[in-house]
Amino acid sequence: MFKQLDVDQIDSVQIILDGQPLQVSKGITVAAAVLSNNYRYTRTSPVSNSKRAPFCMMGVCYDCLMVIDGKANQRACATYVQNGMQIDRQQSVGPELGANQ
Ligand code: FES
Repeated sequence: MFKQLDVDQIDSVQIILDGQPLQVSKGITVAAAVLSNNYRYTRTSPVSNSKRAPFCMMGVCYDCLMVIDGKANQRACATYVQNGMQIDRQQSVGPELGANQ
């Protein structure tokens, strides 16, 4: 579905995704980084525990919620990667607000 260009040929940043360091293209969204690195989901549903993945890619469906730099419920499709960004797939409702700050 998504294929990232060769990172050696473009400006890149390092993110930490579920504890794994990844080099990704500068200027892409977190959702694009997740999908292009073959992660199949971004969160689990608090109701059914089913795995959910980015759908609309434009900030409308909220299926791409992730924990970004310790903040839960961040839309991965509306957030650009930053060097050193810590990103975790969100389990259920995520950590309590402020719990990681
Ligand atoms: S993919 Fe729909 S809000 Fe992010």
